[in-house]
Amino acid sequence: MSFSIIGTGSKSPSQIKTNDDLAQVMDTSDEWIQSKTGIRERRILGEETITDLVVESSLLALEDAGVQAKELDLIICATVTSDYITPSMACIVQRRIGANCPAFDISAACAGFLYAWDIADGYFIRKPDSKILVVGAEAVSKLVDWNDRSTAVIFGDGAGAVVLGRGEGLKAVKLNTRGDETALYAKYKKGNCPFRDNGVDETGQPGGHATFLHMEGQRVFQFAVSSMCRDLKNIVKQAGLELDNVDYVLPHQANQRIIDYAISRLPLAPEKYLGNIAYRGNTSAAAIPILLDEFAKQGQFKKGDILAFSSFGAGLTSAAAILEWDK
Ligand code: COA
Repeated sequence: MSFSIIGTGSKSPSQIKTNDDLAQVMDTSDEWIQSKTGIRERRILGEETITDLVVESSLLALEDAGVQAKELDLIICATVTSDYITPSMACIVQRRIGANCPAFDISAACAGFLYAWDIADGYFIRKPDSKILVVGAEAVSKLVDWNDRSTAVIFGDGAGAVVLGRGEGLKAVKLNTRGDETALYAKYKKGNCPFRDNGVDETGQPGGHATFLHMEGQRVFQFAVSSMCRDLKNIVKQAGLELDNVDYVLPHQANQRIIDYAISRLPLAPEKYLGNIAYRGNTSAAAIPILLDEFAKQGQFKKGDILAFSSFGAGLTSAAAILEWDK
């Protein structure tokens, strides 16, 4: 395969909201949220924007890699909650960090960060000396209905980034999609085109931009547990390894119960699963790069460690990757 991680960075909003804070604005409790999800608190955007967090996490990743923004060959940003519909988040960040390479966003929801790795892998095969910035960023607090307690309590905001350079770190990456537009979605409204529906949307109001995020929790839960167990088993095989060879699993931080299910089904020691969901919540496409950066900066990984990644989300999408840590 084609690339190694040469730098990581992440940035979370400064505003911390605990489960008790949420119980002030909706009918929920710390006991319910913790027992159903493992989440104690999450970061929610206050005055800063998600673009600000992406810029900061990108600069941290570049600094960690010892790479100048002008040396970048490509920027890919995985997000469904950019501040703009167009231009893409990646274009805005390109200008703000002082890069001059091509830049674009991808929409694959929570699995987007690993989808971007697959794209980067192909790019490195054509241009092996590239340096690519891959970002996962999400401000789900803008998208959830804060009157819908079963959805609002699981999400948080944040951004994480990696700089990829020439190397042999990536051993395997595999994407899966099972198209489903009802399990987890947010839609554009119809708009206010005067040539359709008298220029009003389905609520009878002049059209706005998007509906809130709708989630069928139990259907998504079932997809998550089955895809995570299947994807982890398959990706290890694809990399020519055994599950025993995996030193750490970095799973999507969606719900601790989903991770616990995988722990009970796969022959991997529980301590190999890294997590931060208790204090970050589910930050969608940002979850894996934030997790990776936090543990990398704590010195968790040593050269030669085999890391397994697994993610899933709206689409329905899922993805897995195996990477040897060689930074
Ligand atoms: N606080 C208190 N009670 C709540 C609640 C909350 N925040 N949210 C829901 N409830 C209640 C429901 O109203 C329901 O009450 P009832 O039995 O009186 O009708 C009860 O709790 C059970 O609700 P249900 O929706 O069946 O809970 P659940 O066990 O499915 O858990 C999720 C809900 C969202 C935690 C769970 O379905 C889940 O994690 N799904 C996967 C979500 C996910 O991973 N999404 C991201 C993918 S990237």
